[in-house]
Amino acid sequence: MYIFINGKKALFKNQFKYSDSKDLDSNNCEHQMTRSVNIYDSEEKVNTYYVDGKFVAADKAVIPVDDLAVLRGVGVCDLMRTYKGKPYFLREHVDRLNQSASKIDLNIKWRCNEIEQIILQTLEHNQPIDEANIRVVITGGSSPDFMTPQHPRLIVMITQIPPIPAFWYEKGVKVITVKAQRNIPEAKSLSYIPATIALKTAKSQNAIEALYVDAQGFVTEGTTSNLFAFINGELFTADKNVLKGITRKVILSLTEKMFKVNFKALHIDELVKADEVFITGTNKGLVPVVQIDETIIGDGTPGKNTKSIIKELDAHTLGFKQDL
Ligand SMILES: Cc1ncc(COP(=O)(O)O)c(C=O)c1O
Repeated sequence: MYIFINGKKALFKNQFKYSDSKDLDSNNCEHQMTRSVNIYDSEEKVNTYYVDGKFVAADKAVIPVDDLAVLRGVGVCDLMRTYKGKPYFLREHVDRLNQSASKIDLNIKWRCNEIEQIILQTLEHNQPIDEANIRVVITGGSSPDFMTPQHPRLIVMITQIPPIPAFWYEKGVKVITVKAQRNIPEAKSLSYIPATIALKTAKSQNAIEALYVDAQGFVTEGTTSNLFAFINGELFTADKNVLKGITRKVILSLTEKMFKVNFKALHIDELVKADEVFITGTNKGLVPVVQIDETIIGDGTPGKNTKSIIKELDAHTLGFKQDL
């Protein structure tokens, strides 16, 4: 069976677990695929992963069951993507991985440039592919007392980017809100339990993302996205208790001259009255939000400010591709 990915005909193999548009937002570390994809029609080759010092076929990639990632959910992850086979914002993602490890007090032996090299080598071990996801995980490792991290393991997986329906960008999407918070929100830790629960609810309500609302009613971020809103022409985004998204950082640098930016979480009552809302993430880029729970945002279509940022972001990405 063949599918089309980025305009190319590709062989759909059994181990390819991505199924339908309902799974599109599961493009994050909590949903890491244990089996690989092979999207090449020329050769039947299983992807290669890097696991704890070795390059191994994805379908042979394993870690010991006494790893603290398995036993206690201890570990951190990051997700980046490639264009023309080159990682986009490699340094920024590896920096954040490093910071995530330090925020959960996980001592790691790798320097950032070593992790970068391992990522680049993993890419070289795979067939060239223009656009792929790179999932990097550092687990707590095996531990004699089943509690204290001692020898973290590094894993790099090259996986497929699930296609996203065009309507997300053209018409905008629905999101829901959930009363939940992540533990140590500044870290991209392996613990995505609130996300998996919230996304299941979101999907059952035809929404593509769930936004976290704290105990005081402030909306911080999505399960795998940062949140932005326009009120009276000014941009708002939370600065505390959120993951500092790499896409968020790009948006902020692109918009600093375009709009006044307020680093402040909005209360849910303010958010639903916002003129425009959008979410951002590596796995989705910038997606306009036109409905939050049962409330329609603005006139129910992507707003003009949001569209102008999408244009800037597209130009920025194009610039990156052209520089390669
Ligand atoms: C909780 C959370 N917030 C925000 C983001 C967006 O970050 P980035 O733009 O770096 O993908 C993610 C990405 O997975 C996330 O998990």
